[in-house]
Amino acid sequence: MASNDAPARTALGGKAYPIVDHTFDVVVVGAGGAGLRATVGCAQAGLRTACVTKVFPTRSHTVAAQGGVAASLGNMGPDNWKWHMYDTVKGSDWLGDQDAIEYLCRNAPDAVYELEHWGVPFSRTIDGKIYQRPFGGMTTDFGRGPPAQRTCAAADRTGHAILHTMYGQALRHSTEFFIEYFAIDLIMDAEGKCRGVVCLKMDDGTIHRFRAQLVMLATGGYGRAYFSATSAHTCTGDGGGMVLRAGLPLQDLEFVQFHPTGIYGAGCLITEGVRGEGGYLTNAAGERFMERYAPSVKDLAPRDMVSRAMTLEIREGRGVGRNKDHIFLHLDHLDPKILHERLPGISESAKIFAGVDVTREPIPVLPTVHYNMGGIPTNYHGEVLTRKGDDPDVVVPGLMAIGEAACVSVHGANRLGSNSLIDLVVFGRAAGLRAAEVVKPGAKQEPLPEDSADRALSRLDRYRNANGGTPTAELRLRMQKVMQNNCAVYRTGEVLEEGVRLIDDVWKDRDDLRVSDRSLIWNSDLIETMEFDNLIVQAAVTMVCAENRKESRGAHAREDFPNRDDANWMKHTLATIDDSAKAVKIDYRPVHSYTMTDEIAYIEPKARVY
Ligand code: FUM
Repeated sequence: MASNDAPARTALGGKAYPIVDHTFDVVVVGAGGAGLRATVGCAQAGLRTACVTKVFPTRSHTVAAQGGVAASLGNMGPDNWKWHMYDTVKGSDWLGDQDAIEYLCRNAPDAVYELEHWGVPFSRTIDGKIYQRPFGGMTTDFGRGPPAQRTCAAADRTGHAILHTMYGQALRHSTEFFIEYFAIDLIMDAEGKCRGVVCLKMDDGTIHRFRAQLVMLATGGYGRAYFSATSAHTCTGDGGGMVLRAGLPLQDLEFVQFHPTGIYGAGCLITEGVRGEGGYLTNAAGERFMERYAPSVKDLAPRDMVSRAMTLEIREGRGVGRNKDHIFLHLDHLDPKILHERLPGISESAKIFAGVDVTREPIPVLPTVHYNMGGIPTNYHGEVLTRKGDDPDVVVPGLMAIGEAACVSVHGANRLGSNSLIDLVVFGRAAGLRAAEVVKPGAKQEPLPEDSADRALSRLDRYRNANGGTPTAELRLRMQKVMQNNCAVYRTGEVLEEGVRLIDDVWKDRDDLRVSDRSLIWNSDLIETMEFDNLIVQAAVTMVCAENRKESRGAHAREDFPNRDDANWMKHTLATIDDSAKAVKIDYRPVHSYTMTDEIAYIEPKARVY
């Protein structure tokens, strides 16, 4: 292999784990939208770049994104990036960092045009421009005007189109891909610098140690900590797990987004684009209940509000179905030609997973876990941040994070639909630009200490030989049920306190895991166990931080603290773990109450009504 520059060797007290060594300028972990965009950027800058991924790039979870990517192109009516910024700040319930939000919204149009020029097959208007649809919480004129048509769409398969196009671009720039490699752990040196990452090549069981000037984590969210999620089964927060084990904090994990329209029972996503195209929700009385909750934008309210409204309707006995436990989403009044042209994917999903012909019947839907607003704290260049003394914004050398794995924080307490795909490409690009500034192509790297893979190998070896009484699948299910029941759309102190106890029990029972396959080749039992290990620590942090935050803000709705409390809680949560003591430690970081330039002033907090 051309990239090997050291002989194979063994580590871990002489145990037989041959290591294959690689040296790159940059290693990107993850090949979804953010990982691929950063990979392209680094390669364009002349940096020798590896992209390491546990699934084939075009199977990354970005492929499942449906409705579109937000950018104020103004193709369908007046728009500008300042209105987009206002909506994003308001959508975040004032927990987003306004410098980062300015960066996102200002750079969004160029990022979309770049995708267009790379070949993304966007849907088109009659005059050939990129088609844009309305999405929840996107308005005009600083919230005073009608809904904005800001979400650029490739029918309802936008993520699919973007991912495939970007993979083509990455190949064009001769990136080296390491496909079906599972990242076990980061290599951190004694000074706290990230020096690389250790991976397991899943098809032959070899260990690969990647040494790099810069490691970028683009590993996605940890939706699979929950029982019902739109996230792929691969969304196990592997980057967040590695960061916690490295002793670094994660930020704002209590903010978990429920997408209002997951298919009842199956959990598959039905895009918000349905409501953008005129679809609406009804309860058992056939009432369009969103008119009561968000009189001006109705079904196009932000996701946290729609999910809460649906939950209340069901709780108050107005749910549909035999058990009155879900809601109907109607598209049956829309022109079948429009459905065929703009919503073909969900028409098919509704048929397969709900047995529904959308031209005739409503789709049964329920709020379903969809996105993690929290993640690895970064600045808007993608550099990972930690606290040192009084300074909470200290850059961790050698480490960056982008995409859903990261918390920049542009989404704050609640992300607006279609702001995720734009986050991936804008901050994937930003990370590539930063890498070009801080990494010297081909610079000599210090040798890694002989034991640099030991931490990762001990982890691998411990789980590979785990011989307790509890199969991983059983413990994972317990974790998912606890998260689903005790950290849901609505939360109370009592339920969260119970959740903290229950999730702590699951965390402790991790010591009793049993892995039955001891091999290293396609050992899905072992991989799922390491994934569970990543999930459980983030589940614990989520639950503890949700219990700790005594206010309601965005997706964190406390029935016992129903109001937003800016005086005490307009701050990010930072959480670290003591994994052996099974303890979560909480700290805070101020929200950036300043913008990036003086072209727009800080957007003052106010009541979030629509
Ligand atoms: O509803 C959707 O199409 C999802 C979009 C998003 O999460 O941004």
